[in-house]
Amino acid sequence: MKALYFENFGDNSVLQYGMLPDPRLKTDEVLVKMKYIGLNFADIYRRRGDYHIESHSPYINGYEGLGKIVKLGQKTTDLHLGDKVFFVDAPFSNAELVAVSASKIIKVPNYIEEKTIASIGLQGLTADFLVHDLAKNKKNAQVFIQGISGGVGQILLQMLVADGIKVYGVTSTQKKQNLALQQGATEVYLRSSNWENKANGQFDTVFDGVGKTLNQSISLLKHRGKVIFFGMAGGDPDKVDMIKLLENSKSIMTGDLWDYLTSQKERQVRFSRLANYFSNGKITINDPKIFPLSEGKKAYALLESGQSNGKILMRCD
Ligand SMILES: NC(=O)c1ccc[n+]([C@@H]2O[C@H](COP(=O)([O-])OP(=O)(O)OC[C@H]3O[C@@H](n4cnc5c(N)ncnc54)[C@H](OP(=O)(O)O)[C@@H]3O)[C@@H](O)[C@H]2O)c1
Repeated sequence: MKALYFENFGDNSVLQYGMLPDPRLKTDEVLVKMKYIGLNFADIYRRRGDYHIESHSPYINGYEGLGKIVKLGQKTTDLHLGDKVFFVDAPFSNAELVAVSASKIIKVPNYIEEKTIASIGLQGLTADFLVHDLAKNKKNAQVFIQGISGGVGQILLQMLVADGIKVYGVTSTQKKQNLALQQGATEVYLRSSNWENKANGQFDTVFDGVGKTLNQSISLLKHRGKVIFFGMAGGDPDKVDMIKLLENSKSIMTGDLWDYLTSQKERQVRFSRLANYFSNGKITINDPKIFPLSEGKKAYALLESGQSNGKILMRCD
């Protein structure tokens, strides 16, 4: 099979494209012929050697993609040759063929474009569990999103609006502010403006994947409100004063998607719930930027440059 691989950790120059042996299929796996492979920032960390990567010689990066089943392991059930499938947590996906544990397979419908499904990926499933497992807001609740126009933020915003919730947020540029307003936000502040006095104490829930903003998020809450803390895109948070939190009956919830994607059924149910928002037009996302896998280096370079404004996919022809 053709694959994008590397022998040593390093910058983009370590990536090579060429022939490698096909994967060996275990009895509980299916072989997927890839069409689109999703790229995530964690793949850059892995290529640099700064993050866990599955051992393989040479290394093959990537955990996410969409394709068709071309071979079934002997012990797999309910999956068929030709099924169109998607996965977000199986290693070695930067390749034409990937052996995927049947428990990690998500079957995908024909009514949503393949490149859209491949672009929703991890960020969509993250937004889904934050909204439906952690926050569980009632209609007309008032919520706030830190980094409202990030990858997770955009899906989160549109999902909440579709569920009848009033969404506010903060972002860094006027362009991103306009985008969030178009996507249904009630009010979006510019981080550089003097916005906090107006917003403090107003929200039932604050979604914070920025991290260093955690104490600010706590101040934005009403009494009895909760912060959903899910990441550190902007740096680690300062210490939290638990006694102050207690005095105002405020709380912090956290969650890691991997503790919620625990079986094939869990993945399928969650993906179907997410797909509904896309199929009835409640959530739209930018078209992905697509590179052939043979030009995977360019895809990595674009993600690393910070200039991309949507999902980056690699295509296998
Ligand atoms: N818990 C989980 O299971 C899980 C799963 C997936 C992802 N995550 C986390 O979700 C978060 C968002 O991921 P993403 O893919 O949406 O990332 P992203 O597209 O890069 O968005 C991150 C957002 O954070 C804001 N931001 C970055 N640096 C900041 C700073 N210094 N100060 C204030 N805001 C800053 C940016 O907003 P502006 O440019 O508008 O300011 C940007 O919109 C990450 O922390 C990631 O680790 C968690």
